[in-house]
Amino acid sequence: MSGPNSEYDPVEVTPLRADQVEAMRDAALAAISDAADLDALKQVRIDHTGDRSPLALAKREIGALPPQARKEAGQRVGQARGAVNKALGERQGVLEAEHEERMLVTETVDVTLPTDRSQRGARHPITTLSERLTDIFVAMGWEVAEGPWVEAEWLNFDALNMGEDHPARTMQDTFWLEPSKAALVLRTHTSPVQARTMLTREPPIYVVCPGRVYRTDEIDATHSPVFHQIEGLVVDKGITMAHLKGSLDHMTEAMFGEGISTRFRPSYFPFTEPSAEMDMVCFVCRGENSEDCRTCRGEGWIELGGCGVVNPRVLISCGIDPEVYTGFAFGFGIDRMLMFRHNVADLRDVFEGDVRFAQPFGVEI
Ligand code: PHE
Repeated sequence: MSGPNSEYDPVEVTPLRADQVEAMRDAALAAISDAADLDALKQVRIDHTGDRSPLALAKREIGALPPQARKEAGQRVGQARGAVNKALGERQGVLEAEHEERMLVTETVDVTLPTDRSQRGARHPITTLSERLTDIFVAMGWEVAEGPWVEAEWLNFDALNMGEDHPARTMQDTFWLEPSKAALVLRTHTSPVQARTMLTREPPIYVVCPGRVYRTDEIDATHSPVFHQIEGLVVDKGITMAHLKGSLDHMTEAMFGEGISTRFRPSYFPFTEPSAEMDMVCFVCRGENSEDCRTCRGEGWIELGGCGVVNPRVLISCGIDPEVYTGFAFGFGIDRMLMFRHNVADLRDVFEGDVRFAQPFGVEI
């Protein structure tokens, strides 16, 4: 501090007293270190270094001092302002670094979080399996034939050698449509497509008919009033059961791999004679070591469906000369195949339409 000065007005220069300047500087330094973020620091900068800040106002007072006192006061204020600016600069650096670090943390993108984008659907496994099976026959030169779900009673039953009084009519629990005199049913199997095909084309006939069928079954883990079948029909000269066996073996091998062939067990269907139930070698245990196989339950074989040589009575009903042509037919459930092929325990999952069921199959094309 300078020595006593007679021209010095103590009231006028209060802001320039050492303790005052120190107090201003300390207040500024405290505010700077208290500033929690860049916005707060900006305000501190205005408050403590701006035009109306105590130190700026003090600086303005210097001119009012007697000349001999100006140097010292100027130095004092200058040093204080320098210290404040330095502290501001340092704090600015620290807060900027903090801000950046926080941004890195808070703005991190967690790519594993579920998005709110609408879910993609998936092709239904019944559709893809049906197409796969159909393709196996199309690759052999067969054609795809289709028929309606609402079917004439005559095509669903009579044409297939199931006359009105035929006991086999009760084998399939039928949905009848009103009025009953319209004689319409929801088709109980894909076999009416056989009749439709024979009625509309000339042999040679090589067709595969996938589609939806209906029976009055209560819905449970293994039954549903609506399900899917795939039917095959061949009518040509000299067709025998051997052609049927060869075609089915090819289908199961193409679908499940080499060595997965079929066997026949004697059975009865009105529209085929002889008729057989067809089984395929279990594709999991391959018929060996079958005791603990869960897929075939120790059988070594998996039941597929029905087949046989087309009954001559059916050929006649559909206008084909059984003296010239013979044929074979088969039919089996696509849903059942989906279940044993993919270990689906409950048939209801197949029909409830939950996309979460279909999605895991989505990679299949
Ligand atoms: N239509 C028969 C059924 O649904 C299956 C079958 C088709 C049997 C063709 C023989 C020939 O049970």
